[in-house]
Amino acid sequence: MQQKVAVYRKESFNAAHRLNNPLWDEEKNKIVFGKCNNPHYHGHNYDLIVKVIGIPDSQTGFVMDLKELSDIIQNNIVEKFDHRNLNEDCIEFKGLNPTAENIAIVIYNILKEKINPSLDIQVRLYETDRNFVEYPHHI
Ligand code: NI
Repeated sequence: MQQKVAVYRKESFNAAHRLNNPLWDEEKNKIVFGKCNNPHYHGHNYDLIVKVIGIPDSQTGFVMDLKELSDIIQNNIVEKFDHRNLNEDCIEFKGLNPTAENIAIVIYNILKEKINPSLDIQVRLYETDRNFVEYPHHI
């Protein structure tokens, strides 16, 4: 069987952030970023879904062992971002606005290094139940 299959693992983390563009004045930041511009930060309960696409292994029938995927996400993403202030505590967001879009790109780039390169991955990040992003967008 050579058909590709997508498998998914969902994890979650809680983190604080503030969206702000230092090139703009206070008023413009407030208008563009709304509550997410609150100077004293605020938190989100992020849900992270990692999609892995590949051909099931002939011995195991797995695209990827989901326990291993869970461990990779826990050790490299949750450990790094859970209960942190993304702006202040996380080097990845020095000079990078921690929008859901940018967080998803950062997470993808970290995970891509840790997962077998023969597999395609995609990250879906929920900032709220209704607002979520995917990166990359095309798979
Ligand atoms: Ni926010």
